[in-house]
Amino acid sequence: MSDSDKMRRIYVFDTTLRDGEQSPGCTMNLRDKLLVAEHLEELRVDIIEGGFAIASTGDFESVRAVAGVVKNAAVASLCRALPKDIDCAWEAVRGAVHPRIHTFIATSPIHMACKLKMEPEKVYEQAVAMVQYARNLCGDVEFSLEDCSRSERDFIYRVVEGVIAAGAGTVNIPDTVGYAVPEQFGQLIADIKANVPNIGSARLAVHCHNDLGLAVANSLAAIKAGADQVECTVNGIGERAGNTALEEVVMALHTRRDFFNAETNVDTTKIYATSRCVSAVTGSRVQANKAIVGENAFAHEAGIHQHGVLANPLTYEIMTPESIGLPRNKMILGKHSGKHAFESRLQELGFHLDSQRVAELFGKFKDLADRKKSVSDADIAALAQDMQTMVVERVKLDRYNVTASNAITPVSTIRLIHDGKQIEQVAASDGPINASFKAISQILGVKVSLEAFQLTAITGGVDAQCEATVRVRDGDRVYHGRGVSTDVIEASILAYLQALNVLLDESVRG
Ligand code: KIV
Ligand code: ZN
Repeated sequence: MSDSDKMRRIYVFDTTLRDGEQSPGCTMNLRDKLLVAEHLEELRVDIIEGGFAIASTGDFESVRAVAGVVKNAAVASLCRALPKDIDCAWEAVRGAVHPRIHTFIATSPIHMACKLKMEPEKVYEQAVAMVQYARNLCGDVEFSLEDCSRSERDFIYRVVEGVIAAGAGTVNIPDTVGYAVPEQFGQLIADIKANVPNIGSARLAVHCHNDLGLAVANSLAAIKAGADQVECTVNGIGERAGNTALEEVVMALHTRRDFFNAETNVDTTKIYATSRCVSAVTGSRVQANKAIVGENAFAHEAGIHQHGVLANPLTYEIMTPESIGLPRNKMILGKHSGKHAFESRLQELGFHLDSQRVAELFGKFKDLADRKKSVSDADIAALAQDMQTMVVERVKLDRYNVTASNAITPVSTIRLIHDGKQIEQVAASDGPINASFKAISQILGVKVSLEAFQLTAITGGVDAQCEATVRVRDGDRVYHGRGVSTDVIEASILAYLQALNVLLDESVRG
């Protein structure tokens, strides 16, 4: 028997759209969620958790919409172990090709006593009854023992055995508060496997939080000890310090197949594009030194390293940038590059756009190439990102003029095209960007609060493109916008306008 025959298959359950979206500042609207779901399908994850259907009408609608577009992965909705929650989750996922109900109840002494105010016996009975209830609706039911890593062993074994007997096809062991450490968490999985008689009838899953920075390590220890499914989010976004980062756990299994003897079905070459998409729609930037997808993850700064990598990349690289879909910058594009070279570069970077969008983007690329000596992959990816989000442009920037110095109050004159009309407004504020945002809000008559604003240089050099991201709030709705330009003020204005375009589009559609 060859090595690959013995490889264990690990199922990847992505919860970017549910646990990831729960993290502060990572709220996504329906369009964003569908875009992320499309990337997750291409990435070939096994299960996509679309949301927590009963949490709000918006959540319900997005789980239902995700269920409607995803074809290969299973689509799950989270629900408490209560009939009305389960009914709602089922309504949201029933249109999926592979629907899953994911129900949970807490099993730790502190959660049962203080949060649920229930005796363990009642928790056991409810868990079993609700799995039976869910199984009457859906053939694929996952059950999670919330706060399992702080639960008592004998109680865990009993609940796991009971819910499997009731029909749960997957039983999930969450480290809800990020308390576990790898050796102990791995042992917990090994003990469950050894002490639950019917464990072979279900998949055993793990779901780790990163409060001590151990989510990936705990998940890997659990896989080594026999877990079959890993729950994770793109870029590790999630409650508090986040969840297990999908790209890290997948690449650890891929790179160290020799050690784990396990593999996923993920197409690792789609990791980079998916990470960028999640970062763009949430406005949550990936730190430069983040493993796998950080800007510096494949950059070699020290001369001795550069020398080694040039001689043979394996001297300092344990995986290639190509393996995550980040091509080496083989070909620098500039103003003399043709559309064909540009289009093939786009495809290598993981952007599959129709010919109209490619043509539009090529125009933007040419404008950029006129302003910059050379255009890098990061520049192209930054331009292409906008094409993917496909925001309906109800209002457009026509031109702006800013007067700013350290001696006078900055003033911005903005001219927009809204419903075919040019409208101009002048506003003054403590900074040129603030003055521009103020003028735009006055033209559109919107009162939103700016919750986050970030400016980042996409590449080095004084002619670098700048990426601006904004998050604005209108009541309980949150909107993200992103703008790219070699001019920081223009990038900021474009980002603000993109967020307001989503808002305007939503209010027009009602
Ligand atoms: O962290 C957690 O326990 C969860 C469960 C509800 C799966 O997100
Ligand atoms: Zn969680």
